[in-house]
Amino acid sequence: HFTPHPRDVRLFSSRDSMAEEAKKLAGYAAVDNHVQNNHVVGVGSGSTIVFAVDRLAERVRQEKLNIVCVPTSFQARQLILQHGLTLSDLDRHPELDVAIDGADEVDEALTLIKGGGGCLTQEKIVAGCAKHFIVIADFRKDSSVLGQQWRKGVPIEVIPMAYVPVSRTIAKRFGGEVVLRMAVSKAGPVVTDNSNFILDWKFQHAQNWTVVNTAIKMIPGVVETGLFVGMAERVYFGMEDGTVRIR
Ligand code: 5RP
Repeated sequence: HFTPHPRDVRLFSSRDSMAEEAKKLAGYAAVDNHVQNNHVVGVGSGSTIVFAVDRLAERVRQEKLNIVCVPTSFQARQLILQHGLTLSDLDRHPELDVAIDGADEVDEALTLIKGGGGCLTQEKIVAGCAKHFIVIADFRKDSSVLGQQWRKGVPIEVIPMAYVPVSRTIAKRFGGEVVLRMAVSKAGPVVTDNSNFILDWKFQHAQNWTVVNTAIKMIPGVVETGLFVGMAERVYFGMEDGTVRIR
């Protein structure tokens, strides 16, 4: 067991609380700049999106906005309902004005790693249906090259029966290590909202993400990758100094 020195505990928690504040700054700024009356809004998943939904609900109440929300996960659906927002789906609203979502890491070209929460497939579908895909993140997600900040690898959603062959193919073709994501209890694998498994591909070095993303998607059994290439239009980073940096 690792027991940090009391001085470091203070350091850790202050960085964490700074990150929470930064998530809020990013979420509020994105909602204020990109959501307007009569918009259909895609709602992402994770901890940062919670702040954006808080702000969305506040604006809907205060400004009497007419907003419809399309969720990217069970969590997002619950958030929408808990905030009293109007829930819809892609059957009724296949075209979204804007989708707002978090990310695990963002590089300089706005390529994202997503899926830390395992919701990547529905997140990519919803983002792909939006006229504008806006990402919100705290300063810890900002990276010049993918892999510098997020150490857990690229999440890949797979059909359960294919997880071994897909893992082997990815490791053989692209190097690195591929692990099946286990539940916190370790009692079994994480199961996604689509009843699939998640592989985490710990790549060794930066790659041509457009090529790699397409190649991985072509492996039989792969449902989707957590590489979002050429999708994000803008990223809002909440910073440690209380400002928002827009890329
Ligand atoms: C879930 C995601 C999340 O958006 C991503 O993991 C970021 O989460 P958080 O805002 O908690 O850092 O892709 O599948």
